[in-house]
Amino acid sequence: MIIKKAVFKQSASSIFGCPKHTLPEFAFIGRSNVGKSSLINMLCNNNKLAKTSATPGKTQLINHFTINDNWFLVDLPGYGFAKTSKDIRTKIETIIYDYCKKRETLVCLFMLIDSRLPLQQIDKDFMLWCGENQIPFSIIYTKTDKNSKSELTKNIKSFEKELLKLWEELPNCFYSSAEKKVGRDEILDFIHHHLKQVNFDLKKEVPKADEPQEESEL
Ligand code: GTP
Ligand code: MG
Repeated sequence: MIIKKAVFKQSASSIFGCPKHTLPEFAFIGRSNVGKSSLINMLCNNNKLAKTSATPGKTQLINHFTINDNWFLVDLPGYGFAKTSKDIRTKIETIIYDYCKKRETLVCLFMLIDSRLPLQQIDKDFMLWCGENQIPFSIIYTKTDKNSKSELTKNIKSFEKELLKLWEELPNCFYSSAEKKVGRDEILDFIHHHLKQVNFDLKKEVPKADEPQEESEL
């Protein structure tokens, strides 16, 4: 699939502020700093679309981007950012859990995992929560440019071994580097395949340029 058009639609501090349910959407979730916003920019070939930062905790709202006028990419706040107040952490967790559980137009959740690390408890807990709540997800290993090929293979093997202790089979997995633009075609093809299966009337919504935007952190 080719992304011809990627436009920021709106930011929301809860599921209630999200765009009306008209388009299918694909969301990116994972620990703070894992590379969600960078990956969205890489997929859309626009480094200015989603705000990124070397400091964790950058994305704190639900950000919708309209792609090719007919689906949404969603940048979610990261979980597990220790250096923030308990209040903010709880608020962010509520945003994430509510969104994942209640957003009816969510087609697929991409769970981003730092390819340099073994399975982290917080990621494991989140995956188990998705399983309990029947929320399908795919995995994207990020920052693969920071590993040698042999390290990467070793890490992923041990990670998958841990996953297979939880499930009988592995979810769909992708390998990415926002830095080196790795994984773009595979992820976009996967989205394209899912879009074809979703029974939406894509012609219904053509976003109007002058639609009011709600909150914005961009
Ligand atoms: P929060 O919004 O805080 O949850 O973070 P995030 O998951 O959106 O991460 P973000 O995209 O802001 O990236 C965090 C840092 O990792 C930034 O300094 C990025 O430049 C860097 N980064 C992201 N992806 C990659 C990658 O594929 N390779 C390398 N080398 N660095 C990356
Ligand atoms: Mg972010």
